[in-house]
This record gives sequence, structure tokens and C-alpha cells, in this order.
Amino acid sequence: MRSVSPSKRSSQSTPHVLPPRAAVAVGPRVLLRPPHAADGPELTRANRASARLHRGLVRPPRSGPEFARYLARARQPNAVCLLVCRRGDGAIAGAINISEIVRGVFQSAYLGYYAVARFAGQGLMTEALQLALGHAFGRLGLHRVEANIQPGNTPSIRLVRRAGFRREGYSPRYLKIAGRWRDHERWALLRESWRPARRGARRRGARRP
Ligand SMILES: CC(C)(COP(=O)(O)OP(=O)(O)OC[C@H]1O[C@@H](n2cnc3c(N)ncnc32)[C@H](O)[C@@H]1OP(=O)(O)O)[C@@H](O)C(=O)NCCC(=O)NCCS
Repeated sequence: MRSVSPSKRSSQSTPHVLPPRAAVAVGPRVLLRPPHAADGPELTRANRASARLHRGLVRPPRSGPEFARYLARARQPNAVCLLVCRRGDGAIAGAINISEIVRGVFQSAYLGYYAVARFAGQGLMTEALQLALGHAFGRLGLHRVEANIQPGNTPSIRLVRRAGFRREGYSPRYLKIAGRWRDHERWALLRESWRPARRGARRRGARRP
């Protein structure tokens, strides 16, 4: 990923007017870019408005302190946090986190994601996931990405299935979300099994798998 220094990020007056170099991947309708401090109000407001969609599934930042923790996490070397932004107006439509990146013989990471409610169901996250996978398998050089999904989370299962993920297993009481240990299905995609969507997606700095 082409990095942008924090000082350059904070000197940008609005989160919506970003130079193209800030994006790590660009598709026909969305682009992926790292979060920066100025995104806090928009993202936390969007997440508060999406609480019903996210309930019991994900707990993204909804307040200033939570956003600060998210930003700190985004700056860790073993994580790549990306905002899904609509092209044109730059509105934040969702987020995708590539976390716990392990190198060496593993070259693997976890994938987390969520949509902003008012943009859900429009195909934007499907496009964004393709872009994120291009980044993960291309620029980041990963071999495997894993998504853990609750069995009843049909939209999420359909999303990863569409992207070519395979169900590898079932993990009882795997993650504690909203105060409860919840069973999860383990879905994963290997670089050599990934078939990038053909239409229109343009990836920055990605090597072909
Ligand atoms: C899972 C989640 C990210 C999916 O986001 P989404 O916005 O619904 O995803 P998309 O819009 O890309 O896809 C949803 C549907 O819209 C369809 N769609 C609508 N318009 C479309 C368009 N113009 N182009 C392509 N697809 C379109 C997709 O085909 C897809 O259909 P299907 O899944 O019914 O077959 C979202 O439901 C969410 O945030 N859930 C809560 C958080 C969560 O569960 N996170 C994952 C934890 S494991």
C-alpha cells in the first residue's frame, strides 16, 4: 500500500476531497482508502445510524474514543484498515479490515467488514470485497484470508461465497460479540483460488496472483 504520512492526511481540509494517491484500490463505484482523523465524525455517525444492521454481528466505532482506538489499530503493522468510499461524493459506505496479518510460512490474515446501512444492498460491498482481495493478494502478498461468520448471517455468507470463499469449518463459541460467545463458520480464500471480478476493477500497485 502506498502510504500517506499522518501530517499529510491531517492537512487535507475535508475527508471527501482526497487526491487519487490516497486510494489503495479503485473500482467502478467505490474506492478503498485508509481512514484518517478527519473521518471520525462521518464514520461514527454512520455507524450509529447502522446499529440495527450491525447488532450482534460487528461493533464498529460509534464514538470519538472508539474511533481513536480504530485509528490506532489501523496504524499497527499487522493490520490494514480500509474505508469503502463511494466514488463521486466520497461518502463512507462501509469498512473492510484486514487484521492479524501473520507473515513467515503463514502469510494469512482475518477479514472483517460491514456496510453503512443507507448504502447496504446496492452491490457496493461486493465490489469493495473484490478490491480488498486484490490488495490482500496483490500488494500485501498474502496467501490466505479468513472470515469468521455466524451461521445465521446470510448476507455475509452470500458475500464471501460470491467472492469464492470456501467453508472450512465450524467453531463453537468462537467470538464474544455483544456480551455473548457466538458460534462461527470459518470461511477462507486462498490466493490461487481467487478469481478477480473481470468488470472494470482497477487495482493500484497490485501484482497478479
Ligand atoms: C454483510 C454485509 C457487509 C453485506 O453488505 P451489502 O451492502 O448487503 O452487500 P452488497 O450490496 O454488495 O450485496 C448484497 C446484495 O445486493 C445485491 N445487489 C444489489 N444491487 C447490486 C448491484 N448494483 N450490483 C451488484 N449487486 C447488487 C447483491 O447481488 C447481493 O445480493 P444477494 O446477497 O442477496 O445475493 C452487510 O449486510 C452488513 O454490514 N452486515 C452487518 C455486519 C456484518 O455482518 N459483517 C460481517 C460479519 S462476519
